[in-house]
Amino acid sequence: MRTPLLAGNWKMYKTTGEARELVEGLLRGLGDVSDRRVLVCPPFTALQTVRDLVQGTPIALGAQDVYIEPQGAFTGAISPVMLRDLGCSYVIVGHSERRAIFGEGDELIGKKVRAALAHDLTPILCVGETKPQRDAGQAETVVVAQVRAALAGMTPEQISRIVIAYEPVWAIGTGDTATPEDAQAMHETIRRILGEMTSPNVAATINILYGGSVRPDNIDDLIAQPDIDGALVGGASLKADSFLRIVHFLPPQR
Ligand code: 13P
Repeated sequence: MRTPLLAGNWKMYKTTGEARELVEGLLRGLGDVSDRRVLVCPPFTALQTVRDLVQGTPIALGAQDVYIEPQGAFTGAISPVMLRDLGCSYVIVGHSERRAIFGEGDELIGKKVRAALAHDLTPILCVGETKPQRDAGQAETVVVAQVRAALAGMTPEQISRIVIAYEPVWAIGTGDTATPEDAQAMHETIRRILGEMTSPNVAATINILYGGSVRPDNIDDLIAQPDIDGALVGGASLKADSFLRIVHFLPPQR
C-alpha cells in the first residue's frame, strides 16, 4: 500500500564533481528497485549536475529547502518554480537544522509545505523533538504540535500528498539512533494525528520516514516496523556503498 522511500539528504556536502562521482556510483550499483523509491537531495548548486545523471533512471531528485513565493525580490532564496524547472519532484521542508540554525518556525514551514504542493513538489515535512524535550517526557506533545501546526487548515487531499519524516534531533548526526520500538511508537502517533486531520484511510497511504543516524546496520530493523515507511538519511547517504546498502534493505516478512 505504501511504497518505501529511501531518501538521501546530502546537506551542505558535495561539489558538482563530487556529486557526479557519488551519483555515478549509485547508478552502477542500483539494480532493480522497482518495489521502492529512491531519492537524492543534493545542495542547490549540484541539482543541475545530478539531474542530468538521474534523468530516465529510478533515482528521483529533490531539494533541501524552498521559499514560498514563485519569484520576486527575495535575495538568496530559491522558488518552487525553479526547483520544478531543475527536475525536482520532492523538497525537504522544516528540517531541524533549518528550524534551529536558521530560525524557521511552524508558520513559515506550513507556508513552505503549501507552496511545494501548489507547484507539484512533494514536501517531506520534518518533525522531531530535542533531547531535553524527550527527557522531560514531551516528545509526543512536541511532535504532534509540529505536525498540526504545519498542516493546519489544509484539506485531506493536500495532506495526502505529503511525506513526513520523523527525525529526533538528538539522533541526527550523533550515531545515536532511536530504537525501532521508540520510532515505531512515534510513527504510530503521527499516523493517528494524520488520521484525525484527514481520515484513517488517507493516513494509511501517507509515507512516514524515520531519520537520525540511519545506517546500513540498522535500516532493516527500522523498516521492519509497521509504520516506518522508509528513511531520510544524512551522513550514510554521502557514500555510494552505504546508501546503496540502505536502499537495498531487506524487506520485512509481514
Ligand atoms: P544523519 O543520518 O547524518 O543522522 O542525518 C539525518 C538527517 O538529518 C537527515 O535529514
